[in-house]
Amino acid sequence: METSMQEFSPVRAPAPDVHVRDIARARDDFPIFENARPHGHRLVYLDSAASAQKPRAVLDSLSNTYESAYANVHRGMHHLSNLATAAYEDAREKLRGFLNARHIDEIIFTGGSTDALNLVASSFAEPMLQEGDEIALTVFEHHSNIVPWHFLRERKGVKLRWIECDKDGNFDINSLEKALAPGVKLLAITHMSNAIGTILPIKDIVRRAHERGIVTVIDGSQAAVHMPVDVRDLDCDFYAVTGHKLYAPSGIGALYAKREHLQVMRPYRGGGEMIREVARDNITYADSPHRFEAGTPPIAQAIAFGSAIEYIQGWEWRQIQAHEAALREHAIEQLGGIDGVNLVGTPDACGSIISFTVDNAHAHDIATIIDQYGVAVRAGHHCAQPLMEHFGVSATARASFAIYNTHEDVEALASALKRAIKLFA
Ligand code: ALA
Repeated sequence: METSMQEFSPVRAPAPDVHVRDIARARDDFPIFENARPHGHRLVYLDSAASAQKPRAVLDSLSNTYESAYANVHRGMHHLSNLATAAYEDAREKLRGFLNARHIDEIIFTGGSTDALNLVASSFAEPMLQEGDEIALTVFEHHSNIVPWHFLRERKGVKLRWIECDKDGNFDINSLEKALAPGVKLLAITHMSNAIGTILPIKDIVRRAHERGIVTVIDGSQAAVHMPVDVRDLDCDFYAVTGHKLYAPSGIGALYAKREHLQVMRPYRGGGEMIREVARDNITYADSPHRFEAGTPPIAQAIAFGSAIEYIQGWEWRQIQAHEAALREHAIEQLGGIDGVNLVGTPDACGSIISFTVDNAHAHDIATIIDQYGVAVRAGHHCAQPLMEHFGVSATARASFAIYNTHEDVEALASALKRAIKLFA
């Protein structure tokens, strides 16, 4: 299988001649670690796959907008509206650069990746698909990249085809090849599993889909914070990201879409600012991106999204990847040594996520108990029920690592788990 360096993040250490900030100090950039004392303990935040904490730069951006430069965008002729509009469009340009989109109008601000994927389903796929057409998707998908396609199954009679993974949670290229049958018109696929961390070889997958004329919709919610994403290199048709996992506020995300698709896509929601002209009996629509951004957008959130991108770009990707890979390796070593802990999914190509179960204990109980020691993990099905079904479990506990985590956090997780397990022995 063809893979790319970008997808499998093999770089482990920064080159010695590069002068960079020490990533082990990234925690200092996030005020929550100063302020939060869960149950009187140092905060050990291992739930970044659910939502990442926010650096000072993002918090400052939010308050600066509201304190000095807030007004509605694209509407006013006045000073503040012009300032806010410029900052909002500057954030769009930052997203364009971050994803390496060719054109700025290929970046649409959305409410998050759920919103972005629903936009694609509603504005692009629904008019394009006919009854009996098929959509391929994988067992790794988050519900946000399943449910919009179920809507089309219910409403249009399209069929869903599933791509499996192997027993360790590796992506199965043979299953993909089988699934990309003649009736398939669209492939909806994640770049990285939110539940077990598998990284999918998206460039190769897109190439195989395009060879068969299949449109590709990539859910980058989990991947974009852990690896560089270059939509031109991937050649995908759509790529969705969400701000809150990228150290930005919640309520903001972005959809990249190829210009050729956007030019023919019908509007998503109707309202202000997405029109060219409204008459009593007729309406014409604005061009992208405004056609897809009806109503007042999350202005300060979008501007802060740009600040979050800038914050991430302040680090070298190889630093981020080496740091997060080292944390995951350390966690596997620690958890692997605890009797009663079972890792769920140990794929070869994996981001900084570990899912596990504990003998004789429900994941919710484990998460609740280790929280007493200041350790925050997510427990449940992670909105990925087909994947849970694949592994024959209803829930796992999940530790997910971000730039601000430390090896001390890993030790704290292991120590809290040992204490919890004693209660179930
Ligand atoms: N999708 C988020 C998660 O994986 C909420 O936890």
